[in-house]
Formats: sequence, structure tokens, C-alpha cells
Amino acid sequence: MQFEARTIILKDGRTCTLRPAHPDDAAVLIEYMTRTAGETEFTLRYPDEVNYTEEQEREILGSILNDPGQIMMVGIVDGKLAGNCSVSGIGNKRKIRHRSSLAITLYREYWGLGIGTAMIHYLTELAEKIGYGQIDLEVVADNTRAQALYRKCGFEESGRRTRALKFDDGTYHDEILMTKLLAK
Ligand SMILES: CC(C)(COP(=O)(O)OP(=O)(O)OC[C@H]1O[C@@H](n2cnc3c(N)ncnc32)[C@H](O)[C@@H]1OP(=O)(O)O)[C@@H](O)C(=O)NCCC(=O)NCCS
Repeated sequence: MQFEARTIILKDGRTCTLRPAHPDDAAVLIEYMTRTAGETEFTLRYPDEVNYTEEQEREILGSILNDPGQIMMVGIVDGKLAGNCSVSGIGNKRKIRHRSSLAITLYREYWGLGIGTAMIHYLTELAEKIGYGQIDLEVVADNTRAQALYRKCGFEESGRRTRALKFDDGTYHDEILMTKLLAK
């Protein structure tokens, strides 16, 4: 969906613009998915699993921009992409259409500046405007930084998925399920 750009001041004094991702961001977002997948093990993909062509990514970004139930937000610092986050409905069936799902990743050099907090606050406002009743997410049990961010933003633990992930080194990792109820 389209939404208004918002500018925030970061902890180091720079500004960050939060705006909708646009089809013209396709190449930059493919590069971002590939690089961030190598910077942290807490994204779902390994770098070699980012297989979109620029044309496919353009199409995906265009359809998200035109979908009133999906939000794809980018954070821009000094004209460069710092990170991306999204909220989308989990399905259209009446019993589940109150639920949305959140994902967020920043380039490592932008961690700890307050971008994650600002993105989640803005996403929450937009998700409420859309009419979602809650935001759900899954976070790797070892990812204490992200869990601290989510708790600070009002998410509560709602369950645990045992051995949800198997890393290339053969280790298994649980996922924590978290939910934030929205004002209705
Ligand atoms: C998780 C992530 C999005 C956080 O974004 P961020 O912009 O760094 O977060 P913020 O700067 O807004 O910090 C939010 C909170 O995280 C916590 N935090 C920050 N640094 C931390 C650290 N080193 N250890 C533990 N918690 C920490 C603090 O509670 C902080 O709040 P505070 O600034 O009021 O103290 C970012 O680190 C990231 O992209 N990580 C890799 C991908 C990832 O894990 N995504 C989530 C998958 S579920």
C-alpha cells in the first residue's frame, strides 16, 4: 500500500526516511537481501537462496504497493538503503483475516540507531489503519536483540516452535512466536 513518508532522527543525529518500497528499488533490495542474509543467521534465507531477477522483484514490489493489505517499508539514510520491514495478512479466510505477520532486517552497520523501533511503531499504526487485529511474528530463540526490540514495542511471547530451523552447520534452532494485539 501507499503511505506517507516519515522522517526520524537517529541516535547518531542523522535522519532516516521511512517510505514505501517502490518497484525502482528492485535491484537495491535484491542486493540487500543477499548481503543481509550473509551478515546474520537470523533471516530465513542463505545468500545463495536469493534467486529473484530484477524483473520479478519489480513485479512483486509493484503488486505490494497496490495491495491495500500489504505494507513494505524501506529506511533510507544518507540516500542509501538501511533496511526494510513488512507487514502482510496471513490469509483471506474469515477466521484468520484479522492476523498479520511482520518481518524486519537492517544492514548491520545501521543496528542500534533506533530504526527498528521507529519502523515497528509506524508499521503498527499502519496495520491498525488497515484494520488488522494483531501482528504475529516468529523470531529465532537465540536472537535476543530482536526479542528485546519486539518486547519494547509491545509484543508478547505466544508460543515456541521446536527445531523450527536447521542451519547449514547441522544445528537446530527453536523459534519463539510473538504477538501484538492492536486497538480495534
Ligand atoms: C533486530 C533488528 C531489526 C533491530 O533493529 P535496531 O534498529 O537495531 O533496533 P533499535 O536500535 O531500535 O533497538 C531496539 C532495542 O533493541 C535492544 N537492543 C539494542 N541493542 C541490543 C543488544 N546489543 N543486545 C540486546 N538488545 C539490544 C534494546 O532493547 C533496544 O531498545 P533501546 O534502544 O530503547 O535500548 C536489527 O538488529 C536487525 O536487522 N537484525 C538482523 C535481522 C533480524 O534479526 N531480524 C529479526 C528477525 S525476527
